[in-house]
Amino acid sequence: MKVIVTENYDEMSKKAAEVIAEVIKADENAVLGLATGTTPIGLYKELIDKCAKKEISFKNIKTVNLDEYVGLPKGHVQSYDYFMKDNLFNHVDIDLANTNLPNGIAADLDAECARYTALLNKMRQSIQLLGIGSNGHIGFNEPKTPFDSTTHIVNLTESTIKDNSRLFDDISEVPTKAITMGIANIMNAKKILVVANGENKAKAVYNMVKGPVTEDCPASVLQKHEDVIVIVDKKAAALL
Ligand code: F6R
Repeated sequence: MKVIVTENYDEMSKKAAEVIAEVIKADENAVLGLATGTTPIGLYKELIDKCAKKEISFKNIKTVNLDEYVGLPKGHVQSYDYFMKDNLFNHVDIDLANTNLPNGIAADLDAECARYTALLNKMRQSIQLLGIGSNGHIGFNEPKTPFDSTTHIVNLTESTIKDNSRLFDDISEVPTKAITMGIANIMNAKKILVVANGENKAKAVYNMVKGPVTEDCPASVLQKHEDVIVIVDKKAAALL
């Protein structure tokens, strides 16, 4: 695990965007595993900027997202589908047909989980971007999720619902279920990039990097992956 500590959020975003840009430059057909949340917004802006300057192109890039809420109608402003278009896809030269998210409104959610895992096995992420939850979750894999899990439906914990409620008008509107890549699907990526900022992530970052490898902290499994880069600002690195 390579850990890079930056002065602030902007530097974290720039460095993380460089890592992804290098993957794109090395392979114009790369498969990017992407994340939503507030942490990657800055690095997506940097990628948009690099694309505008023609330093990189998404023309042949394929993407697979980590997760999606269950039950939000298509086009809902809080859906991860909307988020990805709003924060990245609509601003770069990507073919939307090459972008993939789990479908949280599939009629048969079990079949959708199987479909998504089959897709991930076929595509295999060149790089998987991750944020980390304050309880150590990755994707929506909450503490105690088995390390061998594949795409599955989760009941979100109270702490995650609370974390996410800042993006909704009222906590009662936050979906209580999501569909997420499993931990095995994440670990199957060739390279993993984790970004985190702010003091509320410090404990989770410590447990991910220095804690025991345990299902109590899903992100700790990353210690077992051979190519992980962690880029965190100094507040998130405070306990390291
Ligand atoms: C997002 C995701 C989540 C977030 C995590 C951190 O697709 O899977 O695991 O990465 O909750 O979220 P932020 O960045 O909002 O602190």
